[in-house]
This record gives sequence, C-alpha cells and structure tokens, in this order.
Amino acid sequence: MKKRILTGDRPTGRLHLGHYVGSLKNRVRLQNEYECFFIIADLHTLTTAPQKSADLADNIKQLVLDYLSVGIDAAKATIFVQSQIPEVAELAVIFQNLVTVPRLERLPTLKDVMRDSHIKIPSFGLLGYPVLQAADILMVKADLVPVGRDQESHVEVTREIAREFNRLYPLDSAWGPVSHFPPASAHSRDRSERDGGSSGELRAVGIPSTTATPRAVFPIPKALIPKEVGTLPGTDGRAKMSKSAGNVINLSDDSETVKKKVMGMYTDPKRIHGDEPGDTEHNPVFIYLDAFVPELNNTKYQIQNTEYKERYSKGKIKDVEVKKFLVEVLEEFLQPLRERRRKYEKDTEYVDEILKKGTSKARVEAQKTLEVVKRAMKLDYF
Ligand code: TRP
Repeated sequence: MKKRILTGDRPTGRLHLGHYVGSLKNRVRLQNEYECFFIIADLHTLTTAPQKSADLADNIKQLVLDYLSVGIDAAKATIFVQSQIPEVAELAVIFQNLVTVPRLERLPTLKDVMRDSHIKIPSFGLLGYPVLQAADILMVKADLVPVGRDQESHVEVTREIAREFNRLYPLDSAWGPVSHFPPASAHSRDRSERDGGSSGELRAVGIPSTTATPRAVFPIPKALIPKEVGTLPGTDGRAKMSKSAGNVINLSDDSETVKKKVMGMYTDPKRIHGDEPGDTEHNPVFIYLDAFVPELNNTKYQIQNTEYKERYSKGKIKDVEVKKFLVEVLEEFLQPLRERRRKYEKDTEYVDEILKKGTSKARVEAQKTLEVVKRAMKLDYF
C-alpha cells in the first residue's frame, strides 16, 4: 500500500518561483511515489481575509493552472477544494476540544501571520488555523505532510491532536471489523510507523508513533521537510519571495515581465563597477541561476553558469550580462510551463472537472473517516 500524502496551499494569488523551488518541484516527484492529495485550502484564507471571499473562485482556478503548468498531474494526484467538504469543518469542531488555547497562542506562526497581515487581535478562526489544518490532514489519514519549515509546528499540533483523539477514543475491538477501516496493523505499522527515509532528499520529522493504540483511529502523520532547499530570496534581495513584498517572479509572468523584474534585480550591493570582484554566494541573481540552471538539464548552461561565477568573483563581468543570462535561463524554464498553462486556460471545463472529481474523491475519504470518528466517540446514536 502506497503511503498517503496531504499538502496544499491557500488560494491567495499566483504562485511564484519560490513556491516552485520550495514545494511544487517536490510534489511533481512525490506524485509518482505516493498517493497524493493536494488541498486548496480556501477556508484557511478566511482566517486572515474574510472580506476577500469573492476572490476565491478565480484564485482557485489560477492555483490549479499553476499546479498543472509545473507538471502536477490530476491523473496521479487528487486536487480538491477544502470548503466543498463539509466533513472538514465537522472534524475541526471535534478537534477544537483536544488542544488548549495557550498551546495555539504560543505558536510562532500566529505572531508571524498577525504581523504580515496587520492583524492586532486574532479572531477565533485565526487562532484555530492549525486545528483546521489538522482536520485537513487527518480526514484523509495522511502519513506524510510535505511542508516548509514554517509549517512544521502545525504538523506537530496535528500529531498531538491525533494522539489525544486516539487516547480518548480507542476503537472498541468488540465492534469487530469497521467498514472501510483497515486493520490496526495496516495503520500503525505500514502507514504511520515506517518513516519517509527512503524518499531521497526528504527528511521525515518526528518520532515514530508508539502512542497509537492497536485500533487507533488516526495514524500519527509526519512532516516532510525538504532538506537543503534554500528558500529563494526576493528580487529585492530580501530573504524570501513574498507577494506582499512585491519581490516575486510568478510562474505565470510573461516574458516582458520576467525580463523587467530580472534586469531590476538586486545583486551585490558592495560592487559598484563591473570590474570589481563581486559576491556570488549571497547574490540573488546567482542563487536563482543555481536553482534553475539544473532544471534545464543542459550542460551548455551549466558551463556558462560556472564560468560567469568565476568571472564575477574576479570582477570580469558586468551585472547586466549575468542578468541577461538569468533571463535566458528563466525563459527556457518557464516556456513549457506557459504552454501547458495556455492549453488548460482555454479549457475551463477541464479545470472544473479536475476539481469536482478530486473533491468528490477526497470527500469519500473524509466521510469514511468521520464515520469511524463518530463510532469511536460513540456519537453514532441512530
Ligand atoms: N497552511 C498551509 C500554508 O499556508 C496550507 C495548508 C492548509 C496545508 N492545509 C494544509 C498544508 C494541510 C499542509 C497540510 O502553506
């Protein structure tokens, strides 16, 4: 049995090169090795921007196009919309009782989001963000959750909730086989206890689940944090690409836009003239080159990259020349993405179809889980 993965994004706008490097690239690989569920977490966007719900329909379509453009394949992975699965909300309401308010208040992500979204006092929903995320993850009984380091604490909360649920509500063996419910051994050994160690550059986080009772309802999921994937800096040299900082190159940017953004990029601020030795290591132009040249699988570009780095550190090449090279590399990388995007953009029915199919498939999983959850809790009154 293939292990199951759940991860996803909030539909807040176009995805950018940083998303590609940090997660999308990885998902394209994971979809071949695991049973993948990719959630479009529209309910999560309401925790910071409830007034923007009218934008979600378009953002969701664009997100699917971003996915398809990088090679996420709807025939392999299940792409679904969170708000169309009422069982997610139902599960979140149950989970709310298994975590304390101070535990949620202490999460650094809360402060970060409040700062970034200019929120002074968190809403009940924002405080509960990780609880909703736990419902996303546990409703499909995911084994592995590929996320960036910033989301690791949410997976930890998910693990705590799962353990607490399993502790409070063990499945009564007297019930005999539960419909749609794999035997305990399939859960605790095959799915949650084997780690993700075989998955190349990925590192599984957290200790194996020893707390899962023999007939535990939930496997204890693990965060899969990409190793050594440096986050891509912004075009302005800031540590991260972020839409609000306006320092991103989107996967859907056209050639003109990419060129303009790259030619205006921050480089080595200490280097004033092209004949001065420059720093390539902390230079976003070279960081991008190092991230995207390997994507092209072309030795010509690899050689040029090495050569340009050498010349740059000796003061034998101007910024413009390196930037022009980066434009060329990014164009080469983005061209196939644009083609795929154009193809699917025209076919809006196909995109809707992907979401409908994916959502009903995920919903079946959610319903099965909730049935077992209620049974374990003895809420199956009639
Ligand atoms: N919180 C995640 C983010 O902002 C998105 C998300 C929602 C998610 N539900 C999830 C990620 C479940 C992994 C698993 O990036």
